[in-house]
This record gives sequence, structure tokens and C-alpha cells, in this order.
Amino acid sequence: PEVALRSGSARPMPAVGMGTASFPPAPGATKDAVLAAIEVGYRHFDTAAMYRTERPLGDAVAEAARCGLLRSREELFVTSKLWCTQCHPDLVLPSLRETLKNLQMEYLDLYLIHWPVALKPGPLTFPKRKEDAVPFDFEGVWRAMEECQRLGLARAIGVSNFTTRHLDRVLAAATIPPAVNQVELNPAWQQRTLRAYCADRGVHVAAYSPLGGQNWDGTGSNAVLESEVLAGIAKARGKSVAQVALRWIYEQGVTSIVKSYNKERLRQNLDIFGWELTDEDRLKISQIPQKKTVTAWGLFSQEGEFTSVDPADLDIV
Ligand code: A2P
Repeated sequence: PEVALRSGSARPMPAVGMGTASFPPAPGATKDAVLAAIEVGYRHFDTAAMYRTERPLGDAVAEAARCGLLRSREELFVTSKLWCTQCHPDLVLPSLRETLKNLQMEYLDLYLIHWPVALKPGPLTFPKRKEDAVPFDFEGVWRAMEECQRLGLARAIGVSNFTTRHLDRVLAAATIPPAVNQVELNPAWQQRTLRAYCADRGVHVAAYSPLGGQNWDGTGSNAVLESEVLAGIAKARGKSVAQVALRWIYEQGVTSIVKSYNKERLRQNLDIFGWELTDEDRLKISQIPQKKTVTAWGLFSQEGEFTSVDPADLDIV
């Protein structure tokens, strides 16, 4: 299954995509995992300048084309993202060109602003202090994103980690409105306010950390994979907890960007079609307490200065 995007000439976005954020970067493992993913049927890949996985993703795609796993680039939906240090009007196009060079591709299907935070131009690093941020010229940066689409280098453009407040600003400046907002979203962090806002404005929502993320903060807990509610539903349906989470996301009309570097789990995560949750399952999932699941990332965390949390969503159960 796929969803058509409102703007751009991107091919429709397959409802499940493979994420490639893995720290520290492991180019060999990324390349192997992407090849395994292509083999088991993934046609949607998500990367970012920040992840340093553009190159191994591009290498894997080139190899897949060489050995006949893919007929052409056109079969794929590829997303990448503009990092905070690149969020300056005159750096957008050169950053996209660099991304395309890394990927060995002529165009992206979707180019996103990674965070609504601008940092001084320089290496692709995380901000350490609030003072590292510089004023974000939303209008200028969005115009440059629009130019990328007009030039055909990005078939659609969008944003990531934007709250309704940030989206208001971009929508007010946009000639081409953002096609997508990619945010952290899963049964334990459902973001209903944000989703309703996006639905009203034709912005498609994509979910990262659909399984609760990769234990970024080292606490060893995961509100999705360890959810008793989801475990009960999984048992009753004869599915895995991951499949229940991904199926729920799909039923909400949201695309999942799910990361696994394991072939069996890659296969499992794609196998969420042809069955449904029941109304009772959906009701139970709607009652899961809500909290942003990725708790690391300092300034980007729930309490952080650059949080992507809409306070309204914290109270919704
Ligand atoms: P692995 O790569 O070893 O499969 P996210 O929510 O960000 O997509 O996080 C996915 C995390 O959960 C990864 O660390 C991944 O590890 C793991 N994972 C992915 N698919 C499954 C699955 N079907 N069951 C259990 N864990 C999974």
C-alpha cells in the first residue's frame, strides 16, 4: 500500500519505509541491511545528512541495480533531510546537491527540514547549548526548499519534528506547502493534536521510532515493545508486538519509518497488511498513557529547549 502526496511529482509513498538512523554510523551494516531490505521488498528508504547513511544507502541501491534486484531508481521512494547547520537559505541547494552526490542519485523523492532549529553553519553536529541556535529564517529556508522542488532535485518537500506552531509559520510563507511532517509517533506517543492539524491542512504524517526507538538513552526500556496492552493484542491476533504497533500506525493513515538491520525483523515489519485490528483493540490502544518515548537528545527531548512536543498531546489518553 502507498499514499499519494499532495505536492510534488514524487511517486506515491509506500506505507512502510526503512529507517537508517543508527549511531554510531556503521556503513557496512547499513549497506548490508538496505540490500536485505530491497530483497524482502522494501522500496521506501529514509536517510539524512546527519545520519551519515546516505553513502551506504546509495552504494546498496547501486549494487541492487547492478545485480538485478531493482530495475531502476524510479522504483524507489528516497527521503533525506537538511540538518540544522544547513538551515540557511543559501545553504539549502548546496546541501541537497551534496546529499544527492552521497546517494549517487539525480533526485530525491522527498527532502525534509530535519528540525525547526537553525545552528551556525559548520560540521553536522548536535547543539550542545541553547545558545548554539541562531534565528531560523523559516521564510527564506522554505523558499530555498521550494526552489529544490522546482529544479526537480526533490520531487516533494516537507519538514520533520515540526509542531503546529512551526507549521503555522511555514504554511504562512509557503507557495508550495509541505507535503509531509515526519515526527516521532507510535502507540505510546500518538500525537493526536498534531495529526488532526496536519489532516486539516493536507500535510501527510510519517512516523519515526514507530516501535519506540532504539533505546537512545540507554535506559533499556521501551514503552512500545514492552507495552502489556500491545502484548495482549499481539497474542490474540497471532502477531508480534511490533506488527501490532505498525498496523495501528498504518490504520491511522500514517507512514511508518521503521528501522531494523535484521532480515527476519525487516520481513516481519513489512508483513502488516491483509489483517486488521478490531474496534476493541483500537479502543485499548487509544487508552495507552501518552509520553514522548525518545527521551534522550538533550535540547531536543521532551523538556528540552528545542522540544518537538505539543503540550496538548501530553494530556491526551
Ligand atoms: P534491530 O535493528 O536489531 O532489529 P524504531 O522504533 O526507531 O524503528 O526502532 C526500532 C528498534 O527496534 C531497533 O533497535 C530494532 O533493532 C528493533 N526492532 C525492529 N523491528 C523489530 C521487531 N519486529 N521486533 C523487535 N524489535 C525490533
